[in-house]
Amino acid sequence: MVQHALSRSLRPLRAWLSPAPALLLAGCFQDVRQSTVFPESDTTRVVQDVYRLVTWIDTVIFIFVFVLLAWVVIRYRERKGQALSIPKQVHGSTGLEIAWTIIPALILVFIAVPTWEAIFRNANPPPTNTMTIRSIGHQWWWEFNYNELGLITANELHIPLGKSIVIDTQSKDVIHSFWVPKLVGKQDAIPGKTNVMWFTPEKTGIYYGQCAEFCGTSHANMRFRVIVDTQADFDAWVARTKQPQKAETAEAKDGEGLFAAKGCIACHTITGRPDAVGQLGPNLTNLHDRGTIASALIDNSPENLQRWVQHPELMKPGVKMILPVPVNPEEAKKLQAYLMSPTGTGAPATAAGKPAQAAAMTGPAAGGAPSYAAIVQSHNCWVCHTIPDVANAKGTIGPNMAGLMSRPKMVGGLLDTNEANLRKWLANPQAVKPTTLMVLVPPLTPAEVDVAVKHLISTYK
Ligand code: CUA
Repeated sequence: MVQHALSRSLRPLRAWLSPAPALLLAGCFQDVRQSTVFPESDTTRVVQDVYRLVTWIDTVIFIFVFVLLAWVVIRYRERKGQALSIPKQVHGSTGLEIAWTIIPALILVFIAVPTWEAIFRNANPPPTNTMTIRSIGHQWWWEFNYNELGLITANELHIPLGKSIVIDTQSKDVIHSFWVPKLVGKQDAIPGKTNVMWFTPEKTGIYYGQCAEFCGTSHANMRFRVIVDTQADFDAWVARTKQPQKAETAEAKDGEGLFAAKGCIACHTITGRPDAVGQLGPNLTNLHDRGTIASALIDNSPENLQRWVQHPELMKPGVKMILPVPVNPEEAKKLQAYLMSPTGTGAPATAAGKPAQAAAMTGPAAGGAPSYAAIVQSHNCWVCHTIPDVANAKGTIGPNMAGLMSRPKMVGGLLDTNEANLRKWLANPQAVKPTTLMVLVPPLTPAEVDVAVKHLISTYK
């Protein structure tokens, strides 16, 4: 009867317990995309070897302790009809105490030697035959800079099999962490500091990476992919990515124009376009070759890309891609056609598709100096700022220029609003505030600074 009641009361516990170990172990023994226990590089294999050694030692200790515990519980249990008595008590045993001090110390030494070996092996500079790639964390995407090859890409890192890959990790804004569980990591990406790690991939394929340091709203969406190619495939990818983007169809050519008219050029670079040299967002050259968009969050399909260029904020919370000019579905199709155009083999394309208004405004004003309106267009100020006397300048990323001179402070309260500070700011925003998003590519010339400052002072009172 008692046994029956006990069994009934334990039923929910049993129901919970039976699948729990299976679920817990599934995470360890299943080859999932981001698994540290299925290493695919020398660096992660060395770590895994230490991990395996420690796990076996732990398992033996675990079994020993629990068998001993079970024996004590059974041997010294209360028996029916036997008077309650305390077993014989022992106080102080030199032999036992020496044994349980020395044995754990020996076990720790046994674990420490391969651990130190692994730490030094992975921390020391790699052997020869290396390729260095700078990875730069941005909220919320990764920039990959192949200095040796003169190539910059984003979110999909191609590497050749058979080379040791050195990753120089940096950050443009907050602390991120570079992690590709099967290949390498984690390594913090810290502003103003370069952290280095390396690995040698052992198998071609696609590996999944993830920012591993909380960095804001879309931290969990800050993913990336590492594609390990054969040397021949890698060389072909490099050659394709270095070529200028080439719009061939009529739809793609319209998209090429829209890429400027919608302000995309202010934040993105596309090789072969002198007008698209922005550095705030990912380099989009050869997007055709990428399997994903939005920092490896979404598959690169026509539908997804069209939706993304219309409503990025619906697909990735907190995304910093703000559209200064709305994109309609028809325009989205054209932009997608352009962005997905394969790169060509000809000479770099010329600046294409500036907004008609900008074209009309460009060119020196009377006296040889550029006009204020021309500066606003050629440096893409209109994308981020609302400027009362410039029709297409309705940006909301930066401050509204209306009433600029009536505000006592500028640059987020950093400087007093006056002519000298305006000159300093426009000549080199990063020199005043290193983390500012106001990246002027190319920088304003002294003559342009002069024109802009005079216009700001006289107009936005
Ligand atoms: Cu970047 Cu988390």
